[in-house]
Amino acid sequence: MKVLVVGGGGREHAIVWSISRSPRVDQVLCTPGNPGIAELAECVQAAGGSPAAIAELAESRQVDLVVIGPEAYLEAGVVDELMERGIRAFGPTQASARIETDKAFAKRLMEAKGIPTGSYREFDNPEDAKAYLRSLSPPMVIKPIGLTAGKGVTVAGSLKEAEQAVDLVMGARAFGDAGSRVIVEEYLTGEEATVLAFCDGKRVVPMVPSQDHKAAYDGDTGPNTGGMGAYSPVPIVDEDMQRRVYEDILVPAVEALAELGTPFVGVLYAGLMIGPDGPKVIEFNSRFGDPEAQVVLPRLRTDLVDVMEACIDGELDRVTLEWRDESALCVVMASGGYPGAYQTGREISGLERVKELDDVIVFHAGTAARDERVVTAGGRVLAVTALGTTLREAAERAYEAVHAIQFERAHYRTDIGHRAFEKQN
Ligand code: AMP
Ligand code: GLY
Repeated sequence: MKVLVVGGGGREHAIVWSISRSPRVDQVLCTPGNPGIAELAECVQAAGGSPAAIAELAESRQVDLVVIGPEAYLEAGVVDELMERGIRAFGPTQASARIETDKAFAKRLMEAKGIPTGSYREFDNPEDAKAYLRSLSPPMVIKPIGLTAGKGVTVAGSLKEAEQAVDLVMGARAFGDAGSRVIVEEYLTGEEATVLAFCDGKRVVPMVPSQDHKAAYDGDTGPNTGGMGAYSPVPIVDEDMQRRVYEDILVPAVEALAELGTPFVGVLYAGLMIGPDGPKVIEFNSRFGDPEAQVVLPRLRTDLVDVMEACIDGELDRVTLEWRDESALCVVMASGGYPGAYQTGREISGLERVKELDDVIVFHAGTAARDERVVTAGGRVLAVTALGTTLREAAERAYEAVHAIQFERAHYRTDIGHRAFEKQN
């Protein structure tokens, strides 16, 4: 069969990598893709990346399955467009993706179902938001209502910082219409973790837990990013915690979306804070995490295409997920300056050498091809994943590869996995 993957980052490289291992797949296409993906798939342009352009590409190339990586395409309704034309698509419709694209909708859904999450208030006017903030004590959490590529949330240590965030989001509209309304949320304490789950509209099958590192610098300091590294498994999300996440969070969320007449098909991402009272939801997303996919998919033994098709058919009970025992750890190499301003077009060296390392996969995130060379083309440039018998071994291998790769002003965290290692000591 022929599969088209939509997107061009590290997560999509991991999806393409996993799909291309399926014996059922003859050809993988990817739009727009990137130079790393181009080693496994044919990269094609869909003019403008609109739902119609993607559907036309899928039709003209007669693909059997379309898999959507990034949330922006889901919000634009690409799955709805594909379904209307009778093309099989893995991912939620625009309406069911609201669990990610509209934070107020997600909060109301959680409230209605009693899903554990922080308390919150929603505001459509900056003065009301600030008045409410003045009644709180720091830290305070301010979130634009819409999509911001993981960069919109402010955890403010002072009232002044919180008010500035409101001005930036609602006044200056730093994130466009995503900031037309804001949520002020209770500050949650504990350790963060991600549980991704396959959903077929009614059933939920969780994947192995992972942990992202959202802060830009070591020791979880600095601004929030899309994610600087990840690992799996996660000691704090043991079997008992996985059961609670399944029963108290994933099942009721999927139930709620089905009851609203917008059943969720695809990957539901539960971003969690594991605190003293158990897991609480920080956010839901409607797709694989990036870089979580880069550690979870390399551990999946089951044919990803079988699982995706079972989701689309509403028959997730026909597959059983099997996982490799090995641990996986991923280090993101970013452009100096990210998540702020950064330069692109820097030549990347060492990629060929790293191919010789065992159990190392370099997923391309923001790269481009220029005169036979690979250059940087984004904030997050590469996601370097390694597998190992233990998490420590995976970390050693991943950093060995990172040290062999060079580009000017490369920035990466040196402490990916630190929470797991601290527990082992
Ligand atoms: P989000 O985009 O909602 O995942 O938020 C980005 C990051 O902000 C999260 O990964 C957390 O580190 C932090 N964060 C968001 N909401 C809260 C909260 N209610 N309490 C504490 N930290 C939070
Ligand atoms: N790693 C965070 C996200 O994918 O949203």
